[in-house]
Amino acid sequence: MMTSPREHMIDWLKDAYAMEQHAESMLKAQASRLEHYPKLKQRIEQHIDETLSQQKLLEQCLDRLNSSPSTIKNLAARAAAFGQALGGMTVTDEVVKGSMASYVFEHIEIAAYTTLIAAARAAGDAETQRCCEQILPQEVEMARWLHDNLPDVVTAYLARSAGERDDAKR
Ligand SMILES: [Fe+2]
Repeated sequence: MMTSPREHMIDWLKDAYAMEQHAESMLKAQASRLEHYPKLKQRIEQHIDETLSQQKLLEQCLDRLNSSPSTIKNLAARAAAFGQALGGMTVTDEVVKGSMASYVFEHIEIAAYTTLIAAARAAGDAETQRCCEQILPQEVEMARWLHDNLPDVVTAYLARSAGERDDAKR
């Protein structure tokens, strides 16, 4: 059975939407736990806002492509499956592991939107391509920020940890 570029693209759009739902819950959990890393917390809060607008863009794409409500209902299951695929990696109170997990997750998002842009181009869907091209730089920028700031987070964590502060980890 043949599957068109458009059908694949729609499938991957649904995955991206589920991914952004997972991103939202992961980022919100992280931000709410952080106490002693205000710069990191602020950047995560900024990315929560970006994530919410990304969800809206993807919703609009799916609506325009006539994705049925029953399919939308399956998104929660997709998000859960996506979270499971990432394992326990994202479930941590500890700021260093949390930052590492965020860095990895941003690269999953970068891969997803790079894929979607190519698929939208192949499907001749300029609007989906435009949406994903709008989202991708936000993920690239977040990944870059995490990369550049991880050493400082680690240094601060180690200093607090050596001071036997039991709240060092967050
Ligand atoms: Fe995202």
